[in-house]
Amino acid sequence: MKKISIIGAGRVGESTAQILAYRDNAHEVVLTDIREGVAKGTALDLQESAPLFGFDTRVSGDESNEAIAGSSIVVITAGLPRKPGMSRSDVLEANLAVIRPIADDVMEYAPDAMVILVTNPVDVMSYAFWKATGWDRSRVFGLSGVLDAARMASFIAMETGYSNLDVSAMVLGGHGDSMVPMISYTTISGIPVSNFLDAATIDRIVTRTRNGGAEILALKKTSSANDSPAAAVATMIDAICNDRKRILPCVAMLDGEYGEQDIALGVPVVLGAGGVEKVIELPLSDEEAQLFKQSSEQVTKDIALIS
Ligand code: LAC
Repeated sequence: MKKISIIGAGRVGESTAQILAYRDNAHEVVLTDIREGVAKGTALDLQESAPLFGFDTRVSGDESNEAIAGSSIVVITAGLPRKPGMSRSDVLEANLAVIRPIADDVMEYAPDAMVILVTNPVDVMSYAFWKATGWDRSRVFGLSGVLDAARMASFIAMETGYSNLDVSAMVLGGHGDSMVPMISYTTISGIPVSNFLDAATIDRIVTRTRNGGAEILALKKTSSANDSPAAAVATMIDAICNDRKRILPCVAMLDGEYGEQDIALGVPVVLGAGGVEKVIELPLSDEEAQLFKQSSEQVTKDIALIS
C-alpha cells in the first residue's frame, strides 16, 4: 500500500496518521482538512518527528481533497464531534452534509480506493457513503467493533488484573447506545470470561463498553476519544495492507446476513487485501438475537432519516 489518505485532520485523523507513520505502514500519508493550514501544519509537525522515530513515510497535508489522488485507502474522520451529553445520532444531519461532498471527491480523485468511515454516527455515514458511491460493499466499511471490543477487553483486563494480550472480546451491532457486547464470544486465552468474573461485574463491563466513548467525552469535555479510535483504524489498515485476513468486527453492509438487508451494522468480517472479504455469521442466543435486532432497528431509524 503506497498511499493512505485521511480526510479530517482532527485528533483522530492526526493520531491515525501518527500510528501509520510510526509503523511504516505506507510510503505516503496524506491528511486533508478544509480548515486553512490545519492539515499542512499537522503533517509538517509529524514529518519533523521522522528522524526521531526513524520512519521514512512522507506525511503531507492539504486543504483540497485533490491531494488524495492515487490513494489505496481513504479514512474519513471529518465531521462535527459530539459534545458531552449528545448521542452519536445527534450529529447525523450535520455530518451527512460533510460526508456527501467528500463522497463526490473520493469518487473523483481516488476511485479505486478502499474507504474506512469513522465519522459518526458511523453506521449511517458508512451506509450513506456506500449509497452515494454505488461501490461494492467490500470496499466501503466503518470503524466500530474493533474499538468497542478493545474498550471491553481493556475493562476486562482492568477488572481481572490479567494481561490485555490474552483478552479477546467481540462487540456487534450499531456503534451507539444499542451496541451488543458479546460476552459469550469473549475469552481470556480461549477461556470464557464468565470463568473469571461474576455476573454483576460482567454487567458493569457491558454497560461501560456501551458508554465507552461517552465516558471519555464527559471527562475531556472539549473532545472525544482519539487514541483508541486511531489504534482501531490502524489495526484495520494493518489487516488490509498485510492481507492478514483477520476476523474483526466492522461496520459492513449486510445483504441477507443476520436476516438483515440494505443496512450497515457492526458484524465480524474477514478483513484483508480485498477489504471486507466476507461477513461472518455467528450463531446468536435468543437474547443476543433480540439485542442485535433492537440495535438494527435503531440504525434503521437513523437511516430512514437520510433517505
Ligand atoms: C468513540 C467515537 C469514535 O467511540 O465514536 O470514541
